[in-house]
Amino acid sequence: MQISYLECTRCGEHFSADRPQNVCPKDGGVLFARYDLASLKGKWRPENLSGRVASMWRYAEVLPDAMPVTLGEGFTPMLPSMCGGGALPRGHGAEPRHHTSRGEFGNVYIKDEGLNPTGSFKARGMSAAVTMAKQYGLTKLAAPSAGNAGGALAAYAAAAGIEAHIFMPKDVPVANRMECDYYGAHVTLVDGLISDCARMVAERKDKEGWFDVSTLKEPFRVEGKKTMGYEVAEQMDWKLPQGIIYPTGGGVGMIGMWKAFDEMEELGWIGSERPKMITVQAAGCAPIVKAWEAGKSTSEMWAGAETFAAGLRVPKAYGDYLILDILKKSHGTAVAATDEEILAAMQHWASVEGVFAAPEGAASLVAYQKLLAGGFFRAEDTVVLFNTGTAYKYLDVIEAQEKKARLERPTARNIGGIIGPF
Ligand SMILES: Cc1ncc(COP(=O)(O)O)c(C=O)c1O
Ligand SMILES: [Zn+2]
Repeated sequence: MQISYLECTRCGEHFSADRPQNVCPKDGGVLFARYDLASLKGKWRPENLSGRVASMWRYAEVLPDAMPVTLGEGFTPMLPSMCGGGALPRGHGAEPRHHTSRGEFGNVYIKDEGLNPTGSFKARGMSAAVTMAKQYGLTKLAAPSAGNAGGALAAYAAAAGIEAHIFMPKDVPVANRMECDYYGAHVTLVDGLISDCARMVAERKDKEGWFDVSTLKEPFRVEGKKTMGYEVAEQMDWKLPQGIIYPTGGGVGMIGMWKAFDEMEELGWIGSERPKMITVQAAGCAPIVKAWEAGKSTSEMWAGAETFAAGLRVPKAYGDYLILDILKKSHGTAVAATDEEILAAMQHWASVEGVFAAPEGAASLVAYQKLLAGGFFRAEDTVVLFNTGTAYKYLDVIEAQEKKARLERPTARNIGGIIGPF
């Protein structure tokens, strides 16, 4: 629908959506797209969704009014967990619990974003951002990326006939480098982290005429990612779960889902109840967890960030103030997972659920297990665990991590369900 205005999340100032905008010129605040939801209320109802396209664009009324650049992103499966995640992952001394059919432990779900185009949930944000870039007539986009955002930007830019300039750490998974090349993006590999890549984009963008589509530095990636919030509600028959666990780097998914819940309440689709929002980060780069534990409202740059969960190697999130606010308002929390725990969780999900999750996604399982063991969640709580991407994009880094952790790789024997000796 027509955007009424863009609103600064810090000072509340309004800006026109008639031309491309990055952040609030006064205070650098993240801009949110606002629509006239009051006029939609009562006219647009959940039942109107039936029969619509099985992509995130089924929620067109709350997305910008433009011709979508789409590759079929969104409307991913919500899989009832086979074992609830309660069993310890293999390698931690316990075998998976036996199960008879999917959904036996009906209160834990895996939202499998690995099925998106380019294999991660980044597709949603980039579909929306590139759609608007095309609508505005922009011809050159630039972004720093931990890997998957770059791949997604490159794909959607290719589909839109727009140039993409992507800056990635030189040790990103091979798949991310290759996909960007094949999609025809201009790739710069940087000897540093995503924060160094972001600095390079900022320094060069004006001279080069690039529009910056960095995480939270334009309003539309949030709009794409918020559709995960609409989907969780729709797929759970408009009853939100008690908890959502989300692997947090820049935090766009969490920020987007929270925005979606507020919009749905305004539309009269849900009440004021909210899930507890849980951030999970890698222990080797956990600035939000550190800030949360210290009771702070912003985070500090994490020194020496290191984890094989490439998308979580974000030493300082631009929207940290929004993420920490959501954790607080939702009575959520923040949890760290070590690389060893993440790898074990990947093996568990693959062998028990049939889901080969990206390391970032598998971190959600580690967080769930910790929160269950610590009593934060009860076994009967309905919790959605986000698997944000597919492991197929990480084969090289997973292999390196296995070597590092000296963990036995799953063999044909134990893939079949018989667990080898650990
Ligand atoms: C698979 C995966 N999960 C999670 C994240 C973190 O996403 P966000 O920046 O939205 O917090 C990323 C970011 O690169 C990612 O690629
Ligand atoms: Zn502002």
